[in-house]
Amino acid sequence: MILSSPERLAFQQDPCLPGHPDPYPIYATLREENPVQWCEGPGLWVVLGHPECQAHMRDDRCSRQDHLDKLIQRFGDERIFQRQKGDLPFMDDKVHGRVRHHVMAAFRSIDLEALDQFCIEFLRQRLEGVQTGEWIDLMPLLANPLPVVVTGHLMGVPGEQQGQVLEHVGGFVRARGLTQTEATASGGDAAMDVYRRFFVPLLQERRRQPGDDVLSRLIGTPQDAIELSDEQLLLIVSSNFYSASIYTVPLLISNAALQLAREPALLQRLKQEPSLLNSCVEELLRFDPPAQALNVSAVRETIELGSCRIPAGDSVTALVGAANRDPRVFVEPNRFLLDRQPNPHLSFAPGVHQCLGLHLARLELRAVLRAWVERFERLEVDEARSKRLVGDRFRGFERLMIRFS
Ligand code: HEM
Repeated sequence: MILSSPERLAFQQDPCLPGHPDPYPIYATLREENPVQWCEGPGLWVVLGHPECQAHMRDDRCSRQDHLDKLIQRFGDERIFQRQKGDLPFMDDKVHGRVRHHVMAAFRSIDLEALDQFCIEFLRQRLEGVQTGEWIDLMPLLANPLPVVVTGHLMGVPGEQQGQVLEHVGGFVRARGLTQTEATASGGDAAMDVYRRFFVPLLQERRRQPGDDVLSRLIGTPQDAIELSDEQLLLIVSSNFYSASIYTVPLLISNAALQLAREPALLQRLKQEPSLLNSCVEELLRFDPPAQALNVSAVRETIELGSCRIPAGDSVTALVGAANRDPRVFVEPNRFLLDRQPNPHLSFAPGVHQCLGLHLARLELRAVLRAWVERFERLEVDEARSKRLVGDRFRGFERLMIRFS
């Protein structure tokens, strides 16, 4: 594909091409030109190739804290960026390892089988009243509420109390996008204030009265090797549990619905071979991932990546949405292959900051697919009446009009 100047300019301004119906041919052309590209708009290096992304994700010369320092210098130290220094995706080295170990133990304590049953029951209720042949917005029907009730269930927080948190998640997430402005920084500050008002009393209450929930496990016991302050816990809960799931999972479900609508044979094949559900989940994650790019790092020393020399202090991100279609790794990368094996997609960032919620995300998507496969013959999408999210490095829908038959 030959890129037009507006396409090159759009990529230069925002490499995730927010809201674009199909960024993948554009990524492919640029990746062929050079798997590592400089992007003038956000002022950072963008890695589009699979091997180059893998190398970047495992490179301990890349520092999240150093990139935050650049933002703190630019926006001042009373902003969200200063607070993000204590958040897992922005930590480096040993400090990151210690906190990650503790948070991972809380994730491991989750009974995935029981959670699966919880999702099945929730989806049964949501789909009960749905009439076949009726156009309906998938997002409020089940894509948005599913991760909210799952997170609330794990944390022991009633769903109806979470309204304000949900309203601000976009502001929180955008303050960790590739491009930062005064507006995104202010949105992040406002979200942090709301989160603080909501979560700190909850944390204090749970400290007094621990329960059998993930929040109590995160607070821990005096026997734990680590003791976290309310400030640290606030970040873990609001970022690593809430925002990480309630923003990404709905987008993943919406992208999955679109793919099933575009290729009706997929649903039919899943009906005949339900054992393909797991590989379908992986292929959906590869084909159109909700998180197109990773959080940004800055390099501590000059490094070589692909054929590029990245000078010390420069910032870098991995565009995993592009890497997932690299023909050096995937045969027929632009085809959706239900039984693709192996499928080494990078959508959960395998490396130092690998997603800790990957089991939950897979479980939720699988539960949704299973519910559709069991109940319906066909799923259609009305793209003209739907609305794509224009949300920096994330991809999916805000409104997705669907119809089951
Ligand atoms: C479709 C769903 C999801 C996708 C595509 C996804 C993707 C990612 C990616 C790409 C990263 C790496 C971020 C970076 O290094 O820049 C990440 C990190 C993380 N994710 Fe997820 N995620 C999803 C769902 C979840 C869920 C449901 C949770 C928790 C409930 C979660 C918790 C985390 C945590 C805690 C990290 C930080 C790990 C660290 O820095 O050590 N994610 N996720």
